[in-house]
Order: sequence, then structure tokens, then C-alpha cells
Amino acid sequence: MAIRIITMKCFLKITFSLYSYLSIVSAFSPHDQYLINCGSGDPATTDPYRRVFNGDSESGHLVSTRASRVFNANPSSSGLYRTARAFNRPLHYVFPIKDPGTHHLVRLHFYPFNSSYYSEAQFHVLANGFLLLHNFRITESENLPVIKEFVIPVDTEKLKITFVPLDNSKFAVVNAIEVISASRDLVADLAQYVDFEKNEQISGLLKNGFETVHRVNVGGFKVTPFNDSLWRTWVPDDKYLKSSDETEKIRFGGRINYQLGGASREVGPDNVYNTARVIRSSNGTIPNTNITWVFEVEKGYSYMIRMHFCDIASVATGMLYFNVYVNDNLAYENLDLSYITNRLLASPFYADFVVDEENSGVLTVSVGPSNMSLPRTVDSILNGIEILKINNSMGSFDGEVCTEFVLRSWRRGNVGVLVPLVAVIFLLLIASVFMQRRRNWFGDSVAWSRLPVDVSEVNLKYGNQLSSGAIEDEQAATESKEEEKHQRKKNHSNSS
Ligand SMILES: *[C@@H]1O[C@H](CO)[C@@H](O)[C@H](O)[C@H]1NC(C)=O
Ligand SMILES: *[C@@H]1O[C@H](CO)[C@@H](O)[C@H](O)[C@H]1NC(C)=O
Ligand SMILES: *[C@@H]1O[C@H](CO)[C@@H](O)[C@H](O)[C@H]1NC(C)=O
Ligand SMILES: *[C@@H]1O[C@H](CO)[C@@H](O)[C@H](O)[C@H]1NC(C)=O
Ligand SMILES: *[C@@H]1O[C@H](CO)[C@@H](O)[C@H](O)[C@H]1NC(C)=O
Ligand SMILES: *[C@@H]1O[C@H](CO)[C@@H](O)[C@H](O)[C@H]1NC(C)=O
Repeated sequence: MAIRIITMKCFLKITFSLYSYLSIVSAFSPHDQYLINCGSGDPATTDPYRRVFNGDSESGHLVSTRASRVFNANPSSSGLYRTARAFNRPLHYVFPIKDPGTHHLVRLHFYPFNSSYYSEAQFHVLANGFLLLHNFRITESENLPVIKEFVIPVDTEKLKITFVPLDNSKFAVVNAIEVISASRDLVADLAQYVDFEKNEQISGLLKNGFETVHRVNVGGFKVTPFNDSLWRTWVPDDKYLKSSDETEKIRFGGRINYQLGGASREVGPDNVYNTARVIRSSNGTIPNTNITWVFEVEKGYSYMIRMHFCDIASVATGMLYFNVYVNDNLAYENLDLSYITNRLLASPFYADFVVDEENSGVLTVSVGPSNMSLPRTVDSILNGIEILKINNSMGSFDGEVCTEFVLRSWRRGNVGVLVPLVAVIFLLLIASVFMQRRRNWFGDSVAWSRLPVDVSEVNLKYGNQLSSGAIEDEQAATESKEEEKHQRKKNHSNSS
């Protein structure tokens, strides 16, 4: 493994030195941005972060308003959550996409309006073939608002988000929707797969969607959407920390040196990189300890762990070496930040690791001193952590079910409403037996299959996963666009 890590570093060095000393100046503005205040006739509602949401009644995104009801039930809450739209049959919002071929952020906001919400709102949410939420309901113990965030690839010129009530006795409901095109460097195609016996590069992540499970600003304060160019929220790390003995929070007042090839401001904002937690030598000895964070996750999925690093603690370059572990497995040995950032301090970058949940319901992330750590310096650092659930092979984030099945079972479940009672019972019986079968069939046939394993040629071309920056992604995106065009042409000639 030592050998592989050394070769990886070489690629990394190459990519980075080509673009060093160029700093990123242009501010990000998304090609697609839809902020929708559901159930509202008000053309403009401002949220606490000064973003303007448009009412959905006149927006044209809602395909039909006829089968939906508007709830006007939270007079005390902020403008965005004062209204909601509820559906008693499947209905969708459609968003034209100017920037197909990239990942888009989809955020769904839920804010229950009264007690009947908790018993009667139960539904599924679908988006372009991904099952975002299945049998979703909000319980009275949850903190409000409940916001679900997904980053999904959108290859078509439309994004369709469908709300499907569980059955006739339930309704689907939503308070606000955000659809925002991500910067191209937000999702990288490569990552390092880590488990008990393997540590290898994998590719093909651009095909996947991700659900945000935890997003943490290590050693710092909560970062609100106001201070994040993709309007994300980052929470402090304290509640995830296993033990805070011998660790120290630090805060940096200087400028964060964003470099091309490293992390961009869209990957992580200044407020994430200018705080960290460190292990520091005391009395000339390297502490024999790790910093460990523990994250609860749902079993049965793969997760992407994105770690954000920025050396804001060292007084000079070449003094910080440490090990990185995920689930107690060595993920990166002797990480040398100044080497990676071409000897520039306070220069951020990130590393993506993919892991399979190992039936424990938790993922752990640790950093700790390595064999190369030096006394009288900082011996470990971490600035941010994101835990992202990867969709399963059915395109689902919420169970072994696919979107077609959800839509079909709605139709099947509600087909008998107008026919005589006997027929209704008969149909329902058949439907339920059939549904049961389908469910079993899906349940049995689906085993998690690993992401495709990368071949070495790709390594050479794309460099290291740690540098997953703009250059490589641009390339990948162009390729996939070409492919798509080709595919469209093919389809066209087939149909004519
Ligand atoms: C909840 O609010 C809705 C919409 O305002 C209303 O129709 C319903 O009767 C309310 N239910 C209860 C239990 O208050
Ligand atoms: C944004 O960040 C600045 C600088 O860290 C901070 O002072 C300010 O309170 C933040 N604003 C919001 C709305 O979070
Ligand atoms: C460091 O060394 C001094 C003097 O030898 C001692 O008093 C102090 O307790 C030591 N501190 C730690 C953290 O070991
Ligand atoms: C740090 O964590 C790794 C992985 O769990 C473990 O192998 C190592 O012994 C730990 N180091 C210390 C000092 O506890
Ligand atoms: C680091 O030290 C451990 C324990 O002495 C050893 O097993 C391991 O091979 C060392 N790693 C390197 C890269 O030297
Ligand atoms: C996630 O969904 C996409 C699109 O359906 C699929 O290509 C991909 O293989 C899925 N990911 C996994 C890990 O199964």
C-alpha cells in the first residue's frame, strides 16, 4: 500500500503544480436556480437568509393545481413555512434545466401545520427516476423544519419531482422546494473505496445521487446558508466527537487560499476551512491519540465520506503529517498537506472515501499522528466532514423499491374506487397479493453491488482522488455530454 500511496502523490503533485499560484476569483452563480414557496400565491417571500422564494400558484412549475389543496396554517412561523401544498393523488413539479449533465441540488422543506398532519401526511417523493423518500412521514418529536437534501445527476432538460400519497386516506405535502445546479466540481467521479481488506480507487461516482446525512464544520460554529454559495448548512462537530480530550479547536483569521485543483469555495466555504480541530504535541512528545467522530447512519447503504482539510495550524510547511482512518481502517497514511497544496498554507482540499455500512449503524472518522509526525508541531487536523448516502442499485435512497413500482402500486391500489364493491374487494385482494410478490421479488433479487472498480489507465488520466478538482471534472463532463449527444442522435435515427 505504501507504494501505491507514493504513486498517487506523484499524480497529485503534477495536477497541482500546473495550476498553482492561480487563485479562484470568480463568484459562483448557478445556471439553474428555482426557489419555490409551495401553496403560496405571493410572488416573492424572503427567507431568513435573504433568498427570494416564488409562490407556486402562478409559477408554472406545478403541473396542475386542481388535485391539490393549499394549507395556510402556520401563522407564527417564518414566511416560507406559513403555507404548504398538499396532494391527494400523484402530482408533479417540473423544472426546465439549462445545465443538463450536471448534478443538481434538490432541497425539500417540511413544516407540519397541525396535529392532523402527523397522522395523515404519508407519501413518496420521486425525482427523475430516483426515489428520494418512501413512506415518508414526520413524527412529532422531530425538529422543525425538516429539510431533506439530495444531489442528483440530471441528464435531461427537465427535472420532474413527483409527490405520491401513500394511499387514498393519506396526503402528500410540501412547504418549499429548492432546485439548484451544482458547480461542476461538487461531485467528482473518483473516490477511494476503503474497507477492512481493501483501499482502492473507484470511479463512476458521477452516475450516482447523494443524500446529505451529516454535514459538519469541525471545530467551528454553525454555517448557515447565508455564508455558503450553495446555501448549505454546516453544524458544529461537538455532538459527533467521541472524546475531546487532548484535542484543540482552532480558528484562523487570515485568508483561505483557494487554488485550482484543490477545493473550491462551492466545495467548502471559508467558514468551514478557517476552523478546525487539531492534536498538538506537548512537551516535545507526540500524543498517542486519535480524534474520532461517530456518525449514525441507516444500514444497508454505501456512503461517501468527504473530508475537508486546510492547514491553518502549522507555522511553516512540511511539518504536518498524519493518518486518516474511516471505520478504523487506514484510509490515508502520512498525509502531507503542504506537499499536496504545493507548499501553500491555508490552502483547502478534500478527499472522498466510499464505504459500505457494516451493519453497525455508525460510521467513524478518525485522524491521528503517523510515523512521520514531528514533535513540537501540530500532529493532526480536520476542518470539515460530510456523510452522504449513495443511492442503491434501484435508484432509491429509501428502501429496495424503484420509482416505477411506487407509481404502479399507487395506480393499482386506487383503481377500484368507482366500480362495485365486490369488484373492489376482488381487485384489492389481487393487487395486494401481487404487490406482496413484487416486493419479495425486489427484496430478494437486490443485493448491494460494489461500485465498478477502476482501471489503472483512468488513474493516469485523472490523477489522484484527492485533487478531484475542476480540470478533471470538466473533462468528464464534456465526455458525458458527447456521449449523450451521440445517444440522442442514435435514438433519433432509430425513431425516424
Ligand atoms: C389542520 O389544518 C387543516 C388546514 O388548515 C384543516 O383543514 C384541518 O381541519 C386541521 N385539522 C385539525 C385537527 O386541526
Ligand atoms: C456569516 O459569516 C460571518 C463571518 O464569519 C459571520 O459574522 C456572520 O454572522 C454569518 N452570517 C450568517 C447569517 O450566518
Ligand atoms: C510538561 O513538562 C512540565 C515540566 O517537565 C510538567 O510540569 C508538565 O506537567 C508537562 N505537561 C504535560 C502535559 O505533560
Ligand atoms: C487510531 O485509530 C486507528 C484506527 O482505529 C488505530 O489503529 C490506532 O491504534 C489509533 N491510535 C491510537 C493512538 O489510539
Ligand atoms: C509505522 O509504524 C508501525 C508500527 O511501528 C509499522 O507497523 C508501520 O509499518 C509503519 N509504517 C510505515 C509507513 O513505516
Ligand atoms: C444510483 O442510481 C443510478 C441511476 O439509477 C445508477 O446508475 C447507479 O448504479 C446507482 N448507484 C448504485 C451504487 O447502485
